[in-house]
Amino acid sequence: MKHCFVTGGAGFIGSHLVEHLLGQGHRVSVVDDESTGSIDNLKQVIDHPHLEYTRGTVADRQLVRRRLLSADEVYHLAAAVGVQLIARSPIHTIEANIYPTEVILDELGRMHQDGHKVKLFLASTSEVYGKNPKPIYEEGDDLVFGPTTRPRWSYGVSKAIDEFLALAYFTERGLPVVVGRFFNVVGPRQTGAYGMVLPRFIDAALAGRPLIVHDDGQQTRCFAHVADVIYAMTALMDTPRAAGRVFNIGSESPITILDLARKVTAAIHPELPIEFQSYEDAYSVNFEDCRARVPSLAKLRSVIPYEPKHTLDAIIQEIIAWKKDEPHGP
Ligand SMILES: NC(=O)c1ccc[n+]([C@@H]2O[C@H](COP(=O)([O-])OP(=O)(O)OC[C@H]3O[C@@H](n4cnc5c(N)ncnc54)[C@H](O)[C@@H]3O)[C@@H](O)[C@H]2O)c1
Repeated sequence: MKHCFVTGGAGFIGSHLVEHLLGQGHRVSVVDDESTGSIDNLKQVIDHPHLEYTRGTVADRQLVRRRLLSADEVYHLAAAVGVQLIARSPIHTIEANIYPTEVILDELGRMHQDGHKVKLFLASTSEVYGKNPKPIYEEGDDLVFGPTTRPRWSYGVSKAIDEFLALAYFTERGLPVVVGRFFNVVGPRQTGAYGMVLPRFIDAALAGRPLIVHDDGQQTRCFAHVADVIYAMTALMDTPRAAGRVFNIGSESPITILDLARKVTAAIHPELPIEFQSYEDAYSVNFEDCRARVPSLAKLRSVIPYEPKHTLDAIIQEIIAWKKDEPHGP
């Protein structure tokens, strides 16, 4: 039995990871400030004898130190997430995404010097590629951000700083870290409240409202089921040669946002209108987006077997069933 410390474990991806780790027979500690997550996401396991849940922030060094003391592995997922949240609250984004990572790495670095080696998984994002125009992103590609006057890039930049720091701890201190760049992750429990597109569309369609597509809807994204992503995360943590390296994680099947909206209306209410909204009206004049984002998964497949198991149609049906079962507002 391993002891896994999961930051942000009451969030969308974190709660699925906690369930998975408990299911594997591990002991799990969670620290979550419930800023975008909710203890409700853990209700199926909250009374599990191997789960220790703390409502608190990973910016609290003492709390982090206590949780790390008996940990074998750390999954650092706590972050400010969601395009809408980031466009609205750049100070929060930058502070929430950089300082806690610094605290965790500093504490792990000290423990490592004392002979206690704890492996870290750092949840990063496809946003670090910024607006690189390449059709398929490989991990060694340049990070191409817009200007600092456009707050939207602060999310990708703050996650890139986390990556730099984590890789520096690997190189300078020998700390085993794995960086996973998630592309769009979807599934039950993801909220549409902070701008995530698929739950936002499904919420609108179930409520009989038009689906709002930003810009011309020709932006493409790749959507992966949270279970496929969790398989990749845990498999990488079990693979020693993944340490000190960065991996794209997700699906490599692109779809335009307009076609995604069409799939959702077809599944729920084919007559529902799809409306278009400019980025300026949706966010602000300062908003800028990236047209296409497709990962190369070759590097991931060079260290673990990986084939996403869930089709987008099946994912949409699963989210609809979950929403109908437990109505969740946007
Ligand atoms: N969902 C995606 O498509 C996606 C894509 C790329 C990267 N990611 C990354 O995956 C991770 C998890 O994202 P998610 O989609 O589950 O989002 P989420 O908002 O559901 O999860 C983040 C969790 O972290 C918690 N949190 C935030 N700041 C905290 C702090 N200081 N201390 C303790 N807890 C804190 C939130 O309450 C929330 O429960 C994030 O690091 C995110 O950047 C997600």
